[in-house]
Amino acid sequence: MESILKYPHLFEPIMLAGQLFRNRIFSSPQGYYNVGPECFPNLDCVAFYERKAKGGFASVCAGDCIVDEKTGTHYPFTYRIDDPNCLPGFAAYASAVSRQGAVASVELSHAGLHAEAVAKRGGIVYGPVDMEGMYGPVREMPESEIYRIIQCYGKAAELAKQAGCGMVTIHGGHGWLLAQFWNKKINTRKDKWGGESIENRMRFSLEVVDCIRRYVGPKFPIEYRMSGTESYEDGYDLDEGIEFAKALDGRVDLIHVSAGHHQVQSAMLVTHPTMFMEDGCNAKYAREIKKHVKTPVATVGAFTDPAQMEEVIASGWADVVELGRQTLADPDLPLKARLGKEDEIIKCMRCMTCFGNSGEKRHYYCSLNPETEHELENKNVQPPKVLKKVLVAGGGIAGMQAALTAKRQGHEVILCEKSDRLGGILLCEENVPFKKHLSEYLRTQALLCKRAGVDIRLNTEVTPEYALSLKPDVIIAALGAKQLEPSIPGIDG
Ligand SMILES: Cc1cc2nc3c(=O)[nH]c(=O)nc-3n(C[C@H](O)[C@H](O)[C@H](O)COP(=O)(O)O)c2cc1C
Ligand code: SF4
Repeated sequence: MESILKYPHLFEPIMLAGQLFRNRIFSSPQGYYNVGPECFPNLDCVAFYERKAKGGFASVCAGDCIVDEKTGTHYPFTYRIDDPNCLPGFAAYASAVSRQGAVASVELSHAGLHAEAVAKRGGIVYGPVDMEGMYGPVREMPESEIYRIIQCYGKAAELAKQAGCGMVTIHGGHGWLLAQFWNKKINTRKDKWGGESIENRMRFSLEVVDCIRRYVGPKFPIEYRMSGTESYEDGYDLDEGIEFAKALDGRVDLIHVSAGHHQVQSAMLVTHPTMFMEDGCNAKYAREIKKHVKTPVATVGAFTDPAQMEEVIASGWADVVELGRQTLADPDLPLKARLGKEDEIIKCMRCMTCFGNSGEKRHYYCSLNPETEHELENKNVQPPKVLKKVLVAGGGIAGMQAALTAKRQGHEVILCEKSDRLGGILLCEENVPFKKHLSEYLRTQALLCKRAGVDIRLNTEVTPEYALSLKPDVIIAALGAKQLEPSIPGIDG
C-alpha cells in the first residue's frame, strides 16, 4: 500500500471512452520486424508484447500496422492490417496482452511519400503533391485515393476491435502520411486537402478520425499520435502543433504528443532522444499542448524514472506517460515502481543498439536486457531438473548477468571478482555525465546479485587451485573484454 501511495498519480487508473486503464504508464508503439513474409503477428511477437503487459504497463501498442499494404509500406516487414487473414494473429496478440491486465492497441500507419518498400517494388508512391521523394517520384494522391485510404483506416480499426484490442492509435506523427498533409511546405495542394489553410491540411486526419469512429463506435478509445513539433527547418513548429491538437480536441480520446520526424536524421534524434539529452526532455511539448485542449494528453521520450513520471502527471503536464525503449531495457518498470523496488529498475541508457538492429537485422537486441526478443523462449524455460554449483569468474557485466541468470534458475552461484568492486572494465565510464544510466546499471546489477543471494567474493582471483577447491559443477569464465584501441597516430601519447 505504501508504495502505491508513493506514486499516487502514476498509479491512478484512467478511463478513456469507457475503457479502463489500470495506471498512467503506457508502452508506446513499437514495431516488430521478425515477422514472416505474410507480415502478420506471430508467436514471437505476441510474447514480445505480452511481456510488457506482464510488467504492469496499462496499455501496450503494436506499432506500424500498415492500413494499406499496396501503397503504405515503409519497411518491407511491418505488420499489415488490411488483410482479413491477419485477424487470428491480432486476436492472439490482443488476448495475450489482455490476460495480463493491459489494454492492447494497434498503431494504424501509412508511410505516404516515404513508402520505401512500395517504391522498391515499382509501385506508385503517393504523397500530398507531385514531387521527387527520397525513393523516387511521388505522385499527388488523387481525391478518390484519399477517400479509399480513409476507409482503409476505418476498416483496420474495425478489424482491431474485432480481434479484441481495446484501443487504436492513429499514427499522425513522425513525418508519415497524415503528418505530410499537415506540413504546409509539403502540402501545397490547391484543393480542399491542402494549402495555407490549416483546416484543409487537417481534413484528411479528421476524416480518418471520423471514419474510425463510425467503425468502432463511441465506446472505444482512439489515441492520436502526433509530433508536437517536427523539429527541423521545413517541418511545422510547436505553434502549429498546438493548432493541430486543438482541431483534434474532443474528437479523439487521447492526444499523444511525440516530436520530430522519422526520415530527417536530426529530427529523428528528437523523436528518440539520445543519451546526451535529459530524461523526459520532450515533455515540454505535451505541457504546452495540454494548456490548449480538454482531451487527455500523453507525453513520450526518454522516461526512465518513476519519480519524474509521477511529477509530470502530478503537475498537470500530461495525463499519461508513454515509454518506448525503457520497455525493452526493463519491462518490469511499472511493477517495480508499484512495489517500491525502484532501485531494481534497469534504466535504458539510450545507446540506440535496439533501434540500429531493428532496422538492420529485423531483430531487437538490448545492450542491457538479454531477454529482449527472446520472450517466447524465456516464457517456456523449465526449472532445471538438477541443481548445480556454478562458479562465475569475473564480476563485470557478463559475469553479473550470468550469475543472476543461474541464481534465478535455482543454482548455487559463487561470483568471484579479483578487484574490490563489481562492474569490471565499464567502471571507467562511471564519471561520464551522459553515461549516468550505464553506471546506474552497474550498481543495479550488483544490487540484484546481492538480493538474489549470489555468493559474491571480491578480491578473489580464480586460480586453478581455487577453482578446484570449490568443486563446482560448472565454471563460467567471464573474464572481460579487451578495449579496442584504434590505430590513430599519436594515441600512445
Ligand atoms: C526499436 C524501436 C521501434 C519503434 N517502433 C515504433 C513504431 O512502430 N511506431 C512508432 O510510432 N514509434 C516507434 N518507435 C518510437 C517509440 O514509440 C518512442 O516514441 C520513442 O522510442 C521515444 O520514446 P523512448 O525515449 O521512451 O524510447 C520505436 C522506437 C524504437 C526504439
Ligand atoms: S539497446 Fe540501448 S537504447 Fe535500446 S533499450 Fe537497450 S539500453 Fe535502451
